[in-house]
Amino acid sequence: MRKIQVKIPSCPKSSYCIAVGAGSLPKILAQIRKSLPGKELFLITDANVVKAKHLKNLLGKEKLPLFIITPAGEKSKNIKTVIKIIEEMEKKALGRDCVVIALGGGTVGDIAGFVAAIYKRGVPVIQIPTTTVSQADSSVGGKTGVDSSVSKNAFGSFKNPAAVFIDVSTLKTLDKEQFNTGLVESIKHALIADEEYLKYLQKNLKVILARKAKPLEYIAVKNCRIKASVVEADPYEKNKRRVLNYGHTIGHAVESASNYKILHGQAVAIGIIAANIIEQKLGFGGKERLAGLKKLFGKLDISLKIPKTITKRQILDIISRDKKAVKKWPRFVLLEKTGKVLCKKGQFAHKTERKIVEETINILIKQKF
Ligand code: GLY
Repeated sequence: MRKIQVKIPSCPKSSYCIAVGAGSLPKILAQIRKSLPGKELFLITDANVVKAKHLKNLLGKEKLPLFIITPAGEKSKNIKTVIKIIEEMEKKALGRDCVVIALGGGTVGDIAGFVAAIYKRGVPVIQIPTTTVSQADSSVGGKTGVDSSVSKNAFGSFKNPAAVFIDVSTLKTLDKEQFNTGLVESIKHALIADEEYLKYLQKNLKVILARKAKPLEYIAVKNCRIKASVVEADPYEKNKRRVLNYGHTIGHAVESASNYKILHGQAVAIGIIAANIIEQKLGFGGKERLAGLKKLFGKLDISLKIPKTITKRQILDIISRDKKAVKKWPRFVLLEKTGKVLCKKGQFAHKTERKIVEETINILIKQKF
């Protein structure tokens, strides 16, 4: 098992360990019990995880008080689910000495993390991510929350996990679309931080898609190292952490305008292409990188088409309400070159002229890239 330590300097108690291994799931509970003797555990998972038998694999013959989120997915990521879970925890008479375990993808991790952040003013949470997106991104860094009827993650909190356990074997049960689109967060990490890693992903795509343990462990470790180094430097997204939003400004807008019919990873792939077009317009990044990314997304069978129902006006409207917007205009994370985020006057996210953004959206809609 490979171990990575995440140290949050402003909050020494928030230092935590990420353990990566293939086939580790059946051993994790014993490890948790050993490191937290006497703690009551409460497990939060969802219907998909149960169906994939990850819950059975984690628990073996043991029993834990638990809550199964149904239906699985974004539909349940709301405050009503949080209330139901918290009331269930109260009925079980769990005190501040309990520990929440999140077993599942990004939605489970976000909901369980948020529950842990607010239950009786906060209890620890352990993340056991089981999808490509959550293993690469959302289980590390402490962003938690649920959606309101108006926007994504409107209720939210930073809640660093007490530990993260990644068993890459759990990825075997994902369907192709979920597995492949989840790899976009790995491509994002490579683009913002490590050109060699991008080359590795391009060269080894076949074995990654075959879901072989070794390459999956390799990319899990790479992702966690990159993400850990960013969140250690800026845990609460004051500046540098924004680099993790590469491709997310237009990506989120497309995802939201599609009413979440487009998966997050596909939307971010479109957003990454958008960022590349903007970079070219500003004189950074040549045609080669964009062509390479188009090819890579093509091999992953990720469509870069924006659905016909989505208009330029809609995208502009959503980006103007972006969380990171200043005076109703978003800040874009851009690359100076692969592995190097553009940092002007110490800022990692930039105001980009409206004209350039509008032209970029036109290019995306017309698929002229
Ligand atoms: N997923 C972006 C972040 O954790 O900051």
